[in-house]
Amino acid sequence: MGDAVSQSPAMTFDNDSAHWLVQARGVTKSFGDGATRIPVLKGVDLEVARGEVLLLVGPSGSGKTTLLSVIAGILESDEGDVRILGASIPDLSSSEKTRFRRDHLGFIFQQYHLLPTLTAVENAAVPLLIRGVPKQDALSRAEAMLGSMGMGERLNALPTRLSGGEQQRVAIARALVGDPKLLLCDEPTANLDGETGHRIVQQLHDIGKQPDRGVIIVTHDTRIFEFGDRIVHMEDGRVDQIQHGHKELR
Ligand SMILES: Nc1ncnc2c1ncn2[C@@H]1O[C@H](COP(=O)(O)OP(=O)(O)OP(=O)(O)O)[C@@H](O)[C@H]1O
Ligand SMILES: [Mg+2]
Repeated sequence: MGDAVSQSPAMTFDNDSAHWLVQARGVTKSFGDGATRIPVLKGVDLEVARGEVLLLVGPSGSGKTTLLSVIAGILESDEGDVRILGASIPDLSSSEKTRFRRDHLGFIFQQYHLLPTLTAVENAAVPLLIRGVPKQDALSRAEAMLGSMGMGERLNALPTRLSGGEQQRVAIARALVGDPKLLLCDEPTANLDGETGHRIVQQLHDIGKQPDRGVIIVTHDTRIFEFGDRIVHMEDGRVDQIQHGHKELR
């Protein structure tokens, strides 16, 4: 995995990248053109340290999903830079971005984006299959991941036969199965009951606390605030406030 980063000149590490996993600087993003142009990100600066769990909160429409998509290189920003593991994401070609995501990122989408013709375990195995892991190996790793989320009985169900919370857990298993350096989680507990949500956020947290890893969790769920090292508040396309440590919230 490290090879993919160090081989490309666009991905040179700098001193800061020994501390920061993610650095976003001056990120702007608008949708639409001319009179219908809507500025959504208005100059966002954000860092995630290695070993940090960062919560991103803010009103609906404040730009949280857009920011995650820009960080992941799924959406192109208009201005600004995002560096992950020292690699400047806007500088990568489209195929380099795809490879970077495949090798280093896990994304839990707000809308899940499960493939409808694949079973739960096949959906969860997709990132491994794309990397060329042999099918049986990929499926058994996906099965173990789903099992750890209480989904061991639902492995062979198609997404349409799964409840919202079960679909959400398949989406989470898919994000975790490839052992990513950076996990981007968009409302990961929105459809989970309190106990399951708590268990899964604990799992996300434990991944983020490992050296050289990190997690960003977008959430409205105040029950999981205790898991954040920092809580970043977004308001109208800007970072409005940053709180250090959950204890200040109490
Ligand atoms: N593809 C798009 N085209 C046009 N406008 C968009 C697009 N995606 C998002 N927007 C607009 O950008 C703004 C921010 O959207 P975004 O999804 O980032 O918000 P959010 O903070 O994730 O909200 P929520 O908490 O509801 O998920 C919204 O006003 C939304 O309508
Ligand atoms: Mg959103």
